[in-house]
Amino acid sequence: MSEEKESGSKKLWGGRFSTATAGSVEAFTASIHYDVRLYKYDIAGSKAHATMLASQGILSSEELAAIVGGLTAIEQEIDAGTFEFRRELEDIHMNIEKALVDRIGPAGAKLHSARSRNDQIALDLKMYLRDQCDILTELLVEIRKAFVLLAREYLGRVMPGYTHMQRAQPVLISHHMLAYYEMFGRDLSRLADCRKRLNLSPLGCAAMAGTGLPIDREQVAAALGFDGVTANSMDTVGDRDFAIEFVSCCTLTQLHLSRLSEELVLWSTQEFSFVDIADAFCTGSSIMPQKKNPDIPELIRGKSGRVVGSLMALITLVKGLPLTYNRDLQEDKEPVFDAVDTVSASLAIMAELLKNLRFRTDRMADATRFGCMTATDLADYLVLKDIPFREAHGIVGRAVAYCLGKGCELEALSLDELAQFSPVIKKDVFEVLHVEGSVNSRISTGGTGLQRVEEAVSYAEKQMGIA
Ligand code: ARG
Repeated sequence: MSEEKESGSKKLWGGRFSTATAGSVEAFTASIHYDVRLYKYDIAGSKAHATMLASQGILSSEELAAIVGGLTAIEQEIDAGTFEFRRELEDIHMNIEKALVDRIGPAGAKLHSARSRNDQIALDLKMYLRDQCDILTELLVEIRKAFVLLAREYLGRVMPGYTHMQRAQPVLISHHMLAYYEMFGRDLSRLADCRKRLNLSPLGCAAMAGTGLPIDREQVAAALGFDGVTANSMDTVGDRDFAIEFVSCCTLTQLHLSRLSEELVLWSTQEFSFVDIADAFCTGSSIMPQKKNPDIPELIRGKSGRVVGSLMALITLVKGLPLTYNRDLQEDKEPVFDAVDTVSASLAIMAELLKNLRFRTDRMADATRFGCMTATDLADYLVLKDIPFREAHGIVGRAVAYCLGKGCELEALSLDELAQFSPVIKKDVFEVLHVEGSVNSRISTGGTGLQRVEEAVSYAEKQMGIA
């Protein structure tokens, strides 16, 4: 019994407990095996907090020096891998605090004044996610550059554009690449938004009601690079909106990667043969010697399930939570970390793959020659001859049916054949019936016309600081 009491009171919170925590409970409640990832933020937060406590007269300057020195030494040990983490100390906060007390004595025990692990974990996670926003931003810039390089390299080359996975209208390969450039651009702006919204310091909200000690939250916030402080202590310690927002940014990015992956898998089939993914970015089959498999896009597509799963986990986590902090919130970290790892690894490898991607422009151009892909152009031609679009649609539909029966393309019909569908069809129709004419006519803003796409590539190059 006395042994148990001793063991129970070894906890930083052990005072009111008469028996030791069961080993199974320690194992179940511990988070140190994953929240160790936050140690640098925890230490930076503690140093800023201690500095503020000293300027408020709550710590002496000697105590502050001892705390800062102790925390620096602990950080070096963790960096070096020599720090001994203890599961019975639950989490990163208490592992560090206990080590500090062991190292510097009573001054260390003063550090937690006017602070709770509830505002501390919110701080650590926000600081971590702020950095992750910056890291993902760099990765997104890299992948966008890869699309711009491809768009420049293949400028003027045509491919089929699809709707419903049916050949629809010919487009420029560059236009297709810049579609992804736009998608990842939205991801960037969403991340910037997320970073801005999360960048308010939670420290000083303490357990949930604030503190009676004379603290200066603004000082801590400024020292840690926050734009200000949060407004309501109860909201602050129970808020994980920022984590959900961050993971939803990750989810959209991963979905964009997944859609791209689907296209790459499809395009590298023998049926399409639109792209060659470099050998270094493919794998082989253990049984079929001829195989070259697009495992990277397949895995990225597969991993999107994990990121969506992380988002679902976080959303469900907060769904039924009353204010304020509840231990459930400890479950936020693994989904967040998994989303970070998955999205950053996927972005990095995809950017590399894109830099080593070759389009088979001959195959892509050939594919635009079949399927009456200039039918809309013929309809537009009729519209310009004052035929109402719906009527034009019907005329062209009949012409397409005629081609299908004959087994040829619109472009292959003679003027007499075409004119039987409408008397307004004249010789100049052939200018719109060939693929290049079709593509180049689409110069509406945002369209695939060469002139527009050239402008878009140059603009993107400027944005990305290329050439
Ligand atoms: N490990 C905890 C978490 O991740 C830290 C906060 C714990 N607070 C508490 N009062 N038990 O949420």
